[in-house]
Amino acid sequence: MSLKRRLQNVIPPELLDKTPTSFEIIGSRGGAVAIVEIPPELEVYKYQIAKAITETNKHVKAVLRKIGSRTGEYRLYNFEVLIEGPTEVIHKEHGYYIKVDPTKVFFSSRDQTDRLDIASRVGNGERVLYLFAGVAPYAVAIAKFAKPKIIVAVELNPWGFKYMLENFRINKIKNAVAIHGDVATVAPLFRKKFDRVIMTLPLGAYKYLPLALDCIDRGGVVHFYHTGREEEPFREAEEIVKNICPTCQIVGRRVVRDYAPGVYKVRVDIYKP
Ligand SMILES: C[S@@+](CC[C@H](N)C(=O)[O-])C[C@H]1O[C@@H](n2cnc3c(N)ncnc32)[C@H](O)[C@@H]1O
Repeated sequence: MSLKRRLQNVIPPELLDKTPTSFEIIGSRGGAVAIVEIPPELEVYKYQIAKAITETNKHVKAVLRKIGSRTGEYRLYNFEVLIEGPTEVIHKEHGYYIKVDPTKVFFSSRDQTDRLDIASRVGNGERVLYLFAGVAPYAVAIAKFAKPKIIVAVELNPWGFKYMLENFRINKIKNAVAIHGDVATVAPLFRKKFDRVIMTLPLGAYKYLPLALDCIDRGGVVHFYHTGREEEPFREAEEIVKNICPTCQIVGRRVVRDYAPGVYKVRVDIYKP
């Protein structure tokens, strides 16, 4: 039953259309956390909305309300706790596990299709540098579905680093290395050491693109994430690439998902000849 139908006797008819139609669930049958956006008009009904979410999703033990958009270097939401419960969960996707506490470190289940797409592009024996790795879900997907020689994952948030190590362990990944540090200081140590670089920081990756391009040898690929308006989603990302590396070729373009109203998160794949 949809949330709206479940709440039709609670929320007055004139406000019923404002009921959230979707919310993100992170976790698995063993326990999950729901993240929901509730408009100010429904403020007085927020606890009933949260309760309705747990009634339709029995594995949800905690309900958090998103306040505003992601902020800060660690790209975290501010949350209002509507139903208190454990927020450290093990999320299951495509047969692998991601341990994460979304109140401490970035994670989005909505990037899962992109993770599979990236994993499908990694060739046997490749050396992969994964920048802005968070809890390293792309590394786990790559290790599960491809045969790279090594994956090096770099993350600034100490909680991301902690969960990254846990995720390599629980998924029995032996060919991945976790680095706790700032991309600005770590990437320069890796000149021409990689075949592929993944830059999962849509608001800001462009500042590090010259560094990322230096990490690959000729023939390597950089997956560059950015945002773009829905009319021309790739325009700005492509302009940035052309300015920074005029000889590079754009060999792939992908709308990853919605980012904000009228704005997409996009990925542009850059080949360095
Ligand atoms: C958008 S999140 C992506 C996380 C992860 N790749 C994922 O898909 O779940 C970007 C991550 O980059 C990290 N970050 C931001 N600036 C950084 C920097 N200068 N060096 C290393 N990590 C950074 C943030 O803490 C955050 O975890």
